[in-house]
Amino acid sequence: MNPDATDIGALISAGRLAEARMLAERACGLAPDDPGTWYLRAAVSAEMGDWDDVAGCCRQVVALAPDHTEAWFNLAVALANLHRHAEAVAAFEEVLKREPGSAPACLALASCLKKDGRPEAAIEVLGRALSVVPDDARLHAAHADALHQLGHNEAAAASYATALRLDPAQAPIQYGAGCVLQALGRQAEAQSCFEAAVRLDPRIAGAYGRLGSIYGDLGRREDALRCFERLLALEPTNLTGLINYGFALQVAGRQDEAATQYQRALQAHPDSELARYFVATLSAEAPPGQAPASYMKDLFDNYAGRFDQHLVETLEYRVPEAMGAALREAAGATAGSMRILDLGCGTGLSGAAVQDLACRLVGVDLSRRMLDVARDKGIYDELHEAEIGEFLAVSQESFDAVVATDVFVYIGDLEPIMARVAALLMPGGLFVFSEERHEGESGYVLRPSGRYAHSRAYVHAVAGAAGLVVERIEDRPIRVHMNQPIAGDLYVLRRP
Ligand SMILES: C[S@@+](CC[C@H](N)C(=O)[O-])C[C@H]1O[C@@H](n2cnc3c(N)ncnc32)[C@H](O)[C@@H]1O
Repeated sequence: MNPDATDIGALISAGRLAEARMLAERACGLAPDDPGTWYLRAAVSAEMGDWDDVAGCCRQVVALAPDHTEAWFNLAVALANLHRHAEAVAAFEEVLKREPGSAPACLALASCLKKDGRPEAAIEVLGRALSVVPDDARLHAAHADALHQLGHNEAAAASYATALRLDPAQAPIQYGAGCVLQALGRQAEAQSCFEAAVRLDPRIAGAYGRLGSIYGDLGRREDALRCFERLLALEPTNLTGLINYGFALQVAGRQDEAATQYQRALQAHPDSELARYFVATLSAEAPPGQAPASYMKDLFDNYAGRFDQHLVETLEYRVPEAMGAALREAAGATAGSMRILDLGCGTGLSGAAVQDLACRLVGVDLSRRMLDVARDKGIYDELHEAEIGEFLAVSQESFDAVVATDVFVYIGDLEPIMARVAALLMPGGLFVFSEERHEGESGYVLRPSGRYAHSRAYVHAVAGAAGLVVERIEDRPIRVHMNQPIAGDLYVLRRP
């Protein structure tokens, strides 16, 4: 007997998928030229998550009926699920040839293009769709997301604002808008978006994580802890969730519980440098030589939008000016005469402090977003997105001065850096940098704050080994942490 669609549909509804599939296969064997039969089998296979079979059946459908738009669409979805993004893109384009401006096809195509690392192409597709359907909030949000991926955060914020005006009740849109506003340093607005996101959908784990960090910055410790707990209830092995929860516990003075969370992170992610680093912040064991580069990059990419305002106004950060004054005094140079390298230049606060002395100013930092802010200030002749050690290992240029402010708090082992800086400095050249000071025996320690501190004896030893002379140490608080000044040193070293 030739099985019909009603039998197959009934079996799908009853959840008897294997039987439905058997009937559908038999139907295709009996009527191989009927696109409807292949399409039905694709529907059964989609229920079973068998994307290979969905793709195969939909290919049969479009070979028999090239204008079967739904089959093109389902073919594209199946290919996307199989991570065959290039083929999926081609299939979505077939849908759009037949239904220009189809919002679901544009959204799915844009998502595929973004996953394929082609956000520009996604923006183009979404732009086309928006010209046909200008009032679709999801299209505006996807457009915003692609702009954010490209670092065009102002434009992304504008697109998200439109999406929210059209539909404020979508948790993913509130969440995406919050991420962009946070990247722009608009913390209060970001906070409102994340709060709206979790109100609309209490399962949106990422929003709890971000809200927790914002509350932590605002000193709302209990709220921060509650957010991280919610996040971990949804995703118990979320790495940054465990680390941030541990850090929030540490800030609240609950060291043992913090250490437990860091250990949980390491157990769940045994290869994670980040987990190992945070375990080390609360253990007596020798710490790693420096903070993981990927952690630094994420931390400062997310901080870049509000870095200047937060550091200078809230944390009373004055090291760049002090460094500039120390360099000016030690160099005795005339304005515009020095070639200066700024290690971990960030947003350019130190570059601004020595700009008048420089005939050439080069900055290095591993955070692209921090560099974007520095670039906009127009201070540097060159900016390099690189890890300091890796940059120094290959750089051949000579400098009259190298400066590094509030950077060696993220690097414990200064030996390799000292040697390379000495090699790049001209005779008589200066190395001026700030440190968090450690008064104990060991050379450097990694503190519970996640920052390294160095002893003066250690800096003397590594400078001497590199052939640099410690010319001056200025004892000065380097910033305020929880309303307490942090003791630090500003060093002036010279290559003889
Ligand atoms: C606290 S900020 C200081 C920025 C700037 N020097 C100032 O004083 O305003 C530290 C900067 O060092 C960068 N950084 C930390 N470790 C680094 C590394 N290993 N290589 C390159 N940059 C690093 C971070 O991305 C961040 O921009």
